[in-house]
Formats: sequence, C-alpha cells, structure tokens
Amino acid sequence: MSSGDREAIGLSKRLYIKTYGCQMNVYDSTRMADLLAPLGYRLVAASDEADMVILNTCHIREKAAEKVYSELGRLRALKAARAEAGGRMVLAVGGCVAQAEGAEILRRAPHVDIVFGPQTYHRLPDMVARTLLVPADAAARGLLDTEFPAEAKFDFLPEMAAPQGVAAILSVQEGCDKFCSFCVVPYTRGAEYSRPADDVLQEARRLVGAGAREITLLGQNVNAYHGAAPAGTKSAGGEWGLGRLIRALGEIPGLDRLRYTTSHPGDVDDALVTAHRDVPQLMPFLHLPVQSGSDRVLAAMNRKHTADAYRRLIERFRTARPDMAFSSDFIVGHPGESEVDFAATLRLVGDIGFAQAFSFKYSPRPGTPAAQETQVAEEAKAARLAALQEVLATQQRRFNESCRGRILPVLFDRPGRHRGQLIGRSPYLQSVHVEAPDEQLGAVVPVRILGAGQNSVAGTLDMRPDAAGVSA
Ligand code: SAH
Ligand code: SF4
Ligand code: F3S
Repeated sequence: MSSGDREAIGLSKRLYIKTYGCQMNVYDSTRMADLLAPLGYRLVAASDEADMVILNTCHIREKAAEKVYSELGRLRALKAARAEAGGRMVLAVGGCVAQAEGAEILRRAPHVDIVFGPQTYHRLPDMVARTLLVPADAAARGLLDTEFPAEAKFDFLPEMAAPQGVAAILSVQEGCDKFCSFCVVPYTRGAEYSRPADDVLQEARRLVGAGAREITLLGQNVNAYHGAAPAGTKSAGGEWGLGRLIRALGEIPGLDRLRYTTSHPGDVDDALVTAHRDVPQLMPFLHLPVQSGSDRVLAAMNRKHTADAYRRLIERFRTARPDMAFSSDFIVGHPGESEVDFAATLRLVGDIGFAQAFSFKYSPRPGTPAAQETQVAEEAKAARLAALQEVLATQQRRFNESCRGRILPVLFDRPGRHRGQLIGRSPYLQSVHVEAPDEQLGAVVPVRILGAGQNSVAGTLDMRPDAAGVSA
C-alpha cells in the first residue's frame, strides 16, 4: 500500500492499547503506537471513544489469558454501539494469546478484526489499512497474521517516536530456546534473537536525547544476549554478550542508570558479573528467577541448574558488588513437587535473603510438557504459596528496614500524592517517598532513608555538599 493510500484513510484517529503481561509487551505497545502514528492514530487513555483498540495479551498463566476474553466481551458491546452511531472501531488482538490461539480468537470472538503475533506487529499498518478498505458492514472475516517471519521485525520498526520519560525500556533480545517444562514463552515468542549492538546503542542514545536517565534492557532471556558486535570494534565480525553491551552503554553521557531483565541463571557469565563490579551505572539489583530450591523439581522443570549452583552464583555477584540485592520468581506446585521439595525451596529462600520476589501457583499451559503430568492438588498449591509468600514478605520488610539510615541515590520519576512530595526509585527498585520540590523530577538525588514499610521506603533529601557523590 502506498503512503498516499494510507493518508487517504488516515485522518486523526484515537488509538487505545491495553497491555497485559511482561515489560516486553509494554515495550511492544510503545512500538505499535509508533508504527500507527503515520496513519493518523494518536494514543488515548480509554477505550470508550477509540477508533482502534489493541489488546496486547499475555498467555503465561491461565488467569492472564482468560482476562482477554472477558475484555473482548466488553468491547463487543462498545464496538456495536459505535457502529450504531455511524462510527467504526477496529479491534485487534496481539501478543502471546494471539500467537498461541490464533484463529481460535476469531472463532470465539468474530467481532475481532485483526489477530497478530509478537513477531508480526511491524506489519500492523498494512493490516489496519486492509481492514479499513473493506466497509464495516461487509462482514469480512478478521485478518490473521501469526507466523514467525524470516525477517526480523526490528529492521522494520520506525525510530522510537514518543519520548518514554526518565526511566525507559529497551528490548535487546527476544524469544527463548530454554523450553522450561511449564512455560509458553518459547512457543509464543519463538526462537532466541539478539539485536545488533549498534542498533541497541543508537536506540539508547535516542532515548537519552529524549530525556531518559535510566534504561532497562529487556529480553525474555536477556543475558542470553549475543548481538552482532559493532563495526570498527575489536570484536567486529563477532558477537557481544550482555556484559560487553553494558560496558558500551556505560559510556553514553547522561545515562545514569542501567538495569536488565529477565535473566536465566544458566546464562550468567564472568563478563556480566564483572560488569556489576566495574560499571557504576549498572544498578546493584538483579532479578534472577530460580523457580524452586529442589534439585529434583529443577530437573523436572528443565531448568538446567541446581539449587547450589544458584547459591554460588549469588555469591559471585555479592563478591563483585557487596551491596547487591536480589529478586526472584518462584513456582509452587509444579507436577511432582512434594512437601520435601517445597521445604528445599523455603531453605533456599532463607539462605539467600531476597529484597523482593514474585511467586505463583503452577498453572498448566496447553502444549507444554508439564501440563501432561499428574497435577499437584489445588489445596497443597494454595497452602505452599501462602507459606512462601509469608516468608518472602518478611524478607522484603527486613530488607527495606535494613536501608534505614543509608543514603541512596533516588531517581524521581513522578509526583507524590500531595504537593511538595515526589516519588522515585532507589537502586533496589524500591518506591521512595520524599518531600522535594518539583524541580527535582527527573533528577538522581541522594536521599537519607528514614522510614521503611512493606512495599516502599521514605526519606529526606541529603543536602550535604559532598552527598552527590555517594554510591548506593
Ligand atoms: N523469561 C522470564 C520470565 C518468564 S514468565 C524468565 O525466564 O524468567 C515470568 C515468570 O512467570 C516465570 O519466571 C515463572 O516464575 C512464572 N511462570 C511461567 N510459567 C508459569 C506457569 N505455567 N505457571 C505459573 N507460573 C509461571
Ligand atoms: Fe520460559 Fe524458561 Fe524461557 Fe524463562 S527461560 S522464558 S521460564 S522457557
Ligand atoms: Fe506473557 Fe508473553 Fe510476556 S506470555 S509474560 S506477554 S512473553
């Protein structure tokens, strides 16, 4: 379709994107908005008046996927009301439910116009244009595009258009080849792919130019990153790992903070550990999912590491950067998990001491190996989750308490509840509430932590003249 055709159908239109699931979906949603901007679509905050609604969906657990169909039910009425009033609402479903269920979505929800996958959203402008060329009442069947194309979508995305603010996200890697027994990601996102390092550096410079002070590098398995090394460097023609990429990002002026998520314990290498020692912008906080503390369950999960290997890994990070803190993901009630196995998980949690963590009941996912096994009883799952969450909540509170009296650099990224208050993030991703003037929004400022709660801490600006140089 020519750009003239696009203009012919592209007046100023309202686009609403509802994002479910992980940060990668959040990133993809920003790129979908960038792609549709040349067609005249601008983002709005609610679906009511929207000319186009995209649901960017998540398939990771049953509950996540169910939400999509209930939202589609609500949108059916909205779409019908628009049509009755002589208008038109285009309805699209993208993301991991779209990839996993494809045509099933069009069967269960025939009012959906477009179904597209995480690897085909660069084709959205054409799909939208094709949809709009058919009159709404011609009752055309919805478009379906969920293949895994040979081309890499990143090569077809426009430059990042909308500024993301002071804390930005940047996808560097996508897909997963690990095939953990419980997980849909290798099926919904496809094979592991790393963007060339040059592309990542350019996008990072653009983000910093648009006001970002912190960038979180994203990947389903971000430390499996192995992107093409930039031309003109020592490793040109070869590849860079994540540690090397982080060193290069550390040289961008104005970029104060770097993070990356989500990592797999099996892909941690020396370069990544030493980056935590040598790159001051790299935050001393790591989300490193372990899933279970039982070697039997870890083997059944196909995680390819033991509980002790995880303990040793944490020690390596702590040796490189003594103030490092950790977060993790846990699944309770994976098929085959006994009370003895669960006790091993509690032991691991006790040994490490997490600053925060996420924990889930195992949810059988269609097409994954663990879904075919004998399932753990629901009551056992619920009891284990409650016990684990109690321990993790205590550890989080304790960690927040341990920050009392410390001076932490805080990046203020939003106004607080009342005037004169700002909220920011500590190096450990804690929400920090501080009385501070609006001018400090977007700045990294030393804060003395005075109070600690379950999910946040509070403090005062540390105004000593030498305070600006403090490290975490
Ligand atoms: N790519 C990331 C995250 C995957 S999804 C990683 O490798 O860690 C985020 C978390 O959801 C996982 O770490 C896991 O704890 C949880 N999860 C994934 N599949 C699940 C399932 N079937 N049931 C319950 N939790 C699941
Ligand atoms: Fe899923 Fe495992 Fe890949 Fe993480 S490493 S995305 S849990 S298959
Ligand atoms: Fe969900 Fe897909 Fe992310 S299943 S967690 S949106 S990769």
